[in-house]
Amino acid sequence: MAYTFNGKVALVTGGASGIGKAVVLELIAQGASVVAVDMVEERLTQLAAELQSQSDKLATCLGNVTSEADVDRMVETATSRFGRLDILVNNAGIMDAMTPVGELSTELWNRVLAVNLTGPFLLSRKAIPIMVAQGEGRIVNVASEAGLRGSAAGAAYTASKHGVIGLTKNTAFMYGPQGIRCNAVCPGGVETNIGIGGDYNPTALGISRVMGVLQATAGSRIAKPVELAAVITFLASDEASFVNGAILAADNGWSAV
Ligand SMILES: NC(=O)c1ccc[n+]([C@@H]2O[C@H](COP(=O)([O-])OP(=O)(O)OC[C@H]3O[C@@H](n4cnc5c(N)ncnc54)[C@H](O)[C@@H]3O)[C@@H](O)[C@H]2O)c1
Repeated sequence: MAYTFNGKVALVTGGASGIGKAVVLELIAQGASVVAVDMVEERLTQLAAELQSQSDKLATCLGNVTSEADVDRMVETATSRFGRLDILVNNAGIMDAMTPVGELSTELWNRVLAVNLTGPFLLSRKAIPIMVAQGEGRIVNVASEAGLRGSAAGAAYTASKHGVIGLTKNTAFMYGPQGIRCNAVCPGGVETNIGIGGDYNPTALGISRVMGVLQATAGSRIAKPVELAAVITFLASDEASFVNGAILAADNGWSAV
């Protein structure tokens, strides 16, 4: 199903790879103007090259979602270039090598929490006043299967994604009356760069632990990023007008087992 995003402005963090990139491509294909944020410059350059024919619809922004100054600049890119901000997709995230709490360094804990949980907080805090002033807004937070269960990642990633779900529900409750819908998606395994592209690459052991859990569940397979983009764009669309505070698993049944 194609949704109409004509006239809408979106900001997608981690928008130059994997799920975020698929969301950027889908939103632009459906008429939105998009700010794609990422901290890897080459990926942003590649994205801009791919979307050269629609460069009027795309702004790229190099920055780190853990930096308040960068977050201010990301949101200001949306308002200065496109004049408003309707949709925020808090998607940027990193893994934790499936590290159990007893082996987890403070540095890795802080890093994972900063990117996966503080990032969505900072972006939401900056975007919400603009959305409130506009009378509407949609936030989609990309959580994880690890936000629903304890066996899908290490301690930091699991805690961060449970936190994202709490942030989502509270935002939905607090700002629903002001026209803002906030929902979360919990992907199962998705074919992206997260396992190879971050500062904390999962060790082979980490990946095999996750895959062992995944393979033990009925019907599990690895999704294409576009399958998650379909769910995220639905939640950001007018068609999801009565959906607020939902925590939607898109995991081929993993969480149902
Ligand atoms: N791939 C999966 O199996 C899977 C499963 C569940 C949840 N998720 C979640 O989906 C989201 C997207 O991940 P993906 O799988 O597409 O990974 P990915 O690595 O392909 O893309 C993530 C992008 O985020 C960017 N990024 C990382 N830290 C950043 C920061 N501090 N500031 C700005 N950008 C930053 C990276 O540079 C990268 O381009 C993440 O939140 C991840 O936790 C992924």
